[in-house]
Amino acid sequence: MAEAARQLADAGVESPRVDAELLLGHVLGVSRAGLITASDVDDAAVERFEALVAQRADRVPLQHLTGRAAFRHLELAVGPGVFVPRPETELLAGWVLDRIAGTDAPVVVDLGAGSGALALSVAHEHPGARVTAVERDPGAIEWTRHNAAARVAAGDIPVEVLAGDMTDPGLLRELDGTVDVVVSNPPYVPDGAQVPREVADHDPPLALWGGPDGLDVVRGLLVTAARLLEPGGWLGIEHADQQGVALPALVRSAGGWTDVADHRDLAGRPRFTTARRES
Ligand SMILES: C[S@@+](CC[C@H](N)C(=O)[O-])C[C@H]1O[C@@H](n2cnc3c(N)ncnc32)[C@H](O)[C@@H]1O
Repeated sequence: MAEAARQLADAGVESPRVDAELLLGHVLGVSRAGLITASDVDDAAVERFEALVAQRADRVPLQHLTGRAAFRHLELAVGPGVFVPRPETELLAGWVLDRIAGTDAPVVVDLGAGSGALALSVAHEHPGARVTAVERDPGAIEWTRHNAAARVAAGDIPVEVLAGDMTDPGLLRELDGTVDVVVSNPPYVPDGAQVPREVADHDPPLALWGGPDGLDVVRGLLVTAARLLEPGGWLGIEHADQQGVALPALVRSAGGWTDVADHRDLAGRPRFTTARRES
């Protein structure tokens, strides 16, 4: 373990000890805490562990190696072709749940669903919600569908998974003016920005890049959200650290929105913008 942690630290991995523990736990089929009592590590397990550590040192995301990503109360399947959900997005899911608390059958649309982290968490934590998950990337939507089916098998209410472009004026026309909350963690990285190797080499390009200022997709998303939401309905959009002023300004200048606000994550970084459709 010490050797693996050193190898990962030398490779510039941010949390080398934790990653080494999670990889060994994955190989042995136990949790991190379970490692304390795991005494039998046979040669085959050591070999498999060393191979995974070498891949992690080559900056393959931890979640691609374990095939799982934790998000709020769910464990989602992830791998090549889909964006790995990030812990900071859990706050945006929490914000959606606060908005629909006390409503029996709220209509929620997640634009750019990826693994389904937001949509499936909302359906899991607010069982009456009618949730639609929209995804454009044919590779990513396989993961959305897989995770949605797994949640149904686990007893959650089905989420509708729809192949579509969040900027398409014809998207979900049947829901026009009826949606309680539109939520999105869209691609928002400005073209050419430096990102870690795990991101550049393994997150799908369609999940990341958002044009010169990172807000190209968001401009189209705002038009779609304005059309879908009922008067007084809510919109929540995640953004990059540097967009905490630009995105609220974009929403205000689009017109038709009230209560425009920006929210920080637990590290104090600007993380998502919310607004309300004018009544
Ligand atoms: C940053 S990822 C977020 C995924 C997931 N919602 C999450 O929070 O982990 C953005 C997702 O939006 C999808 N996407 C990008 N452009 C899109 C578009 N125009 N319409 C629909 N989905 C799009 C990407 O394929 C990707 O899955």
